[in-house]
Amino acid sequence: MKNENLSAERLKFIKPSAIRRMIDLSAGMKDVIHLEQGEPDFITPKHILDAAKKAMDEGYTHYTQTQGMLELREAVSEKLSRENGIDVDPKTEVVIVSGTQETMAIAALAFLNPGDRALVLEPYYPAYFEDTLIAGAVPVPVPLNEEENYRVNQEELEKRIDSRTKLIWICSPSNPTGHVFTREDLEIIVEVAKKHDLLIFSDEIYEKLTYDNAKHISIGSLPGAEDRTITVNGFSKAYAMTGWRIGYAAAKGALAREINKLHYYLVLCPSSVAQKAALAALTGPQDCVEKMRQEYERR
Ligand SMILES: Cc1ncc(COP(=O)(O)O)c(C=O)c1O
Repeated sequence: MKNENLSAERLKFIKPSAIRRMIDLSAGMKDVIHLEQGEPDFITPKHILDAAKKAMDEGYTHYTQTQGMLELREAVSEKLSRENGIDVDPKTEVVIVSGTQETMAIAALAFLNPGDRALVLEPYYPAYFEDTLIAGAVPVPVPLNEEENYRVNQEELEKRIDSRTKLIWICSPSNPTGHVFTREDLEIIVEVAKKHDLLIFSDEIYEKLTYDNAKHISIGSLPGAEDRTITVNGFSKAYAMTGWRIGYAAAKGALAREINKLHYYLVLCPSSVAQKAALAALTGPQDCVEKMRQEYERR
């Protein structure tokens, strides 16, 4: 059946993921070393598996609140305050999502109008670019150079900003470079965001996987960034939980409300069992995270 003309206009601009294509091409092949996707080769630590099994046995198999169970939101809020210097109310300012990936579509659809512009620091994780396009907005790459150690240059940012620029996507520690932004770099981004009234989307999924003593700083903790930053993180990388599809977004006031509104229509609520596993991950022993990190660093 010839049905290629049935898709919506917006899909004409969207490229299928090259990463997924490599995975599909290599499916079933032997002796392949997978460098294409950030997939920990450890299985999820045992105490997290046990918590999930217990939850299932106890019948924790139903819908939860769209925003996620309060106990997990409280653990997230406590972690953000203790480790990241971000203060959010677990009742209203934390949303548990079906993987950090979901938050990118939400941010683009919730905060970008067709024709708006969003800055993407390049090289970038592809979803920022494609989700901007899905929203009918325009992704504007801002190249960062390896020779300059991926320093952020205020002039380079500002010359790409106009009255339609609404958001800046950042990822630190970065996929694909592994680079961790310094406080100075983050301060430049906050200054530009304040001056031009931009939202900051901060993807911190690799926060636990830093090497050579690099220190991760959450941009949402910097003065002036609190009210304009959406901080997203998840369990996939730190706790080897890619298959569980669980993460979170934290943002102040109306931002979190709008995220949750869209989240309902996209997924209704995140997986109940995965939430129990995530709770065990956050509140249980953390030495497993450091053990895996050390092994990645050794490699
Ligand atoms: C930078 C970055 N953000 C988000 C994700 C997706 O994370 P999650 O499994 O929480 O959806 C990935 C996955 O590779 C990633 O590399």
